[in-house]
Amino acid sequence: MNIKKIGAAAACILFLSACGSTGSPEQQSVTESASEESMTEEVLSILSETAVENTEPPVICESFSDENFLAEKRGTVILRYSEDEAASDKGALRIFNRNNSWDGVQYNADKFRGNELEAEGSFRSSNPSVRISIQYTVNDNTSYNTIASVNTTESSYSKASGKYVVPKNAENIIVYVESDRLEDIYIDDFSVKVCGDYTYYPEAVATEFVDTSDYPSLKEEYKDYFRIGTATSPNLLDKEPYAKLIKAQYNSMTMGNSFKPDSILDHNKTVRDIDKYMYSPAVKFDAVKTELDFARDNGLTVRGHTLLWHNQTPDWLFYKNYDIGGELADRETMLARMENYIKNVMEWTEENYPGLVRAWDVVNEAADDGGGMRKSLWYQTVGEDYIEQAFMFARKYAPEGTKLFYNDYNSYQTRKQNDIITFLRPVVEAGNIDGMGMQSHINVDISISQYMTALQKYYDELGLEINVTELDVCRGKSDNWQQEQGDYYKEFMSEILKLRKNGVPITSVTLWGISDTDSWLSSDYPLIFNDDLSRKPAFDGMIEAVNNQE
Ligand code: XIL
Repeated sequence: MNIKKIGAAAACILFLSACGSTGSPEQQSVTESASEESMTEEVLSILSETAVENTEPPVICESFSDENFLAEKRGTVILRYSEDEAASDKGALRIFNRNNSWDGVQYNADKFRGNELEAEGSFRSSNPSVRISIQYTVNDNTSYNTIASVNTTESSYSKASGKYVVPKNAENIIVYVESDRLEDIYIDDFSVKVCGDYTYYPEAVATEFVDTSDYPSLKEEYKDYFRIGTATSPNLLDKEPYAKLIKAQYNSMTMGNSFKPDSILDHNKTVRDIDKYMYSPAVKFDAVKTELDFARDNGLTVRGHTLLWHNQTPDWLFYKNYDIGGELADRETMLARMENYIKNVMEWTEENYPGLVRAWDVVNEAADDGGGMRKSLWYQTVGEDYIEQAFMFARKYAPEGTKLFYNDYNSYQTRKQNDIITFLRPVVEAGNIDGMGMQSHINVDISISQYMTALQKYYDELGLEINVTELDVCRGKSDNWQQEQGDYYKEFMSEILKLRKNGVPITSVTLWGISDTDSWLSSDYPLIFNDDLSRKPAFDGMIEAVNNQE
């Protein structure tokens, strides 16, 4: 046995003993039998030195130098050890047969709960980038965050490395490797370690929610100006402290996920009768009902999010006969699918919840970060005018009074704004759009004056109503970040109010989530309530902005 083999076997066993039974039964038995066969005294001595108690810091460490690895499959993938000249020890793990961006490898990481971890890995792929991500559930809300990401090439390995603080109240913690596109990923030298001192939390520490009854109410304070909204998920509404806070604070809500095409489109039903559904893919609405019921029963209006998007929209929608192994569908087919999808969603919603959806994000994120229009599957199949077509259909089927919005991130940046204005102009001229949605995933270093100038420009140039649709402000690096972020929220809202009073038709400001834990950017603590729903300076900043107007 050569030294590298010993290293690999030892690393795997170290991981097993440190992290419990995380490999699949199949993978564990491979590891066990391989290590039994090849156990020499040398290996045994390494193992006895590295054997750890439960309370010792866990380590995940894989060199992928032979068939013995503990990486588990995530999604539909196939995993194969592969000899690879470009890898550090001439061996790597090939991840292939990927059907979703999140398909890759994963490791249970429950033992890292409540600690800061550092994850590292080397990747090669014709995907332009690969990510190490973490998934966990807090208060029944599962979040997915990036730990590290790296630009990759097909020929040589690039290293990703990053740190992440795992909340004490997290359950089902999984560290995984993914990439936006579906090409194979080769992975080498992967590790996850604890940074600094280690504290072992055998179970998630339950969150003790504070009493929020005496908070001033955002929706009340802002009622003379615009609606205040939040993004929701069905499992948050099930929790009494959340439901109570939402009812008290907000008068608008946006479903964080359940109105998106991947939640509405019914793949099974569609492919069971392709002829019937060829031009009108089947839809299902089970996932969105809890939130719509909540909005209706508690007097909140809804922003419908979103009809056309490149993300969270299954690829099969864009293929001839819905077969992703084949060719993309032609323009006429895709225009028919687009029209029917918009029609079916709008008609079902109006029939079942009349008047509840005040605005629809008809097209989301069509601008490319590199300039021009994003070459999404909508763009590829329908062509350059897909935005115009979508708004035309939306107008045709939208109930009287429902406002139609375009929505995007970084829409305050000069080049992106110019691109957006260019492609929305014909939609405005056709009279098929009412509003511009500024997502506003920002951070405390973003210039508020640049943002406000851009917002004013959408109104001046296109005459559109404005919604701030997904506000969250990622914290800065200073020790005093809570106050710094609070000051930012205060100034941001003061400036929004000024524009409103100067005649810019800003009709809602929606925060993208309730507390930092349930934010999609939870590691950046971007929202206005802490995990236990105690108020942050960010909440106070929003209240002060409206109370202390010049
Ligand atoms: C996010 C959700 O908050 C997450 O739960 C989900 O995993 C990914 O999408 N722009 C948008 C939103 O328009 O739909 C996205 O929401 C955030 C970025």
